[in-house]
Amino acid sequence: AGRKGTESERTFIMVKPDGVTRGLVGEIISRFEKRGYKLVAIKSLVPSRQLAEQHYGDLRTRPFFKGLVNYITSGKAPVVAMVWEGRDVIRQSRAMIGATNPLEAVPGTIRHAFSISIGRNVIHGSDSFDSAEKEIGLWFGKPGDLVSWEPVNWNWIM
Ligand code: TYD
Repeated sequence: AGRKGTESERTFIMVKPDGVTRGLVGEIISRFEKRGYKLVAIKSLVPSRQLAEQHYGDLRTRPFFKGLVNYITSGKAPVVAMVWEGRDVIRQSRAMIGATNPLEAVPGTIRHAFSISIGRNVIHGSDSFDSAEKEIGLWFGKPGDLVSWEPVNWNWIM
C-alpha cells in the first residue's frame, strides 16, 4: 500500500455493482481526482466467488457474508476496482466514503449522497494499512498492475 503516511500511500477502492449499475463510477472517480488523489490502477470485472470470499475473508462468519458475496459476484453489473495514491489516502478515503450504514453516514460523504441501504452502499474502501496491502495484492497482484506517475507536468502541453 505504498509507504504509510507519505505521498506514496495507496488504498484499494471498489465501486460495487449497485454503484456501477446506477452510473456512479464517474462521480466517484471525480471526487477522488478533485480531492487531489492519483489513480494508479483501474479495472472493471465480475469477480470470481473465490476472489470475493478472499476479499471479505474477515467477515466469513457474519450472517450477511453469503448475501454480500452473492451480490458482488452476481454479474448483473461488474465492479470497478481501483488503487488510489496520495497523502493519508487510507483514512481520508474512509472519511470521503462515510459510515457503513448510510443512515449514519455524514452529509457530504459518498454513502450519504448515494445510498439508503447498508447492503447496497455503493463503494468499498480499505479500512487500514494492512487491509490496503492485502486488498491491493489480491486485486492488482501482477507486475505492472500499478502505474507510478507524476501528475501535472505542465511542460507536457507546452
Ligand atoms: P464492513 O467491512 O463492516 O464495512 P465497510 O464496507 O464500511 O468497510 O462490511 C463490509 C460490507 O458488508 C459493507 O459495506 C456492507 C456489508 N454489510 C452488510 O450487508 N450488513 C451488515 O450488517 C454489515 C456490517 C455489513
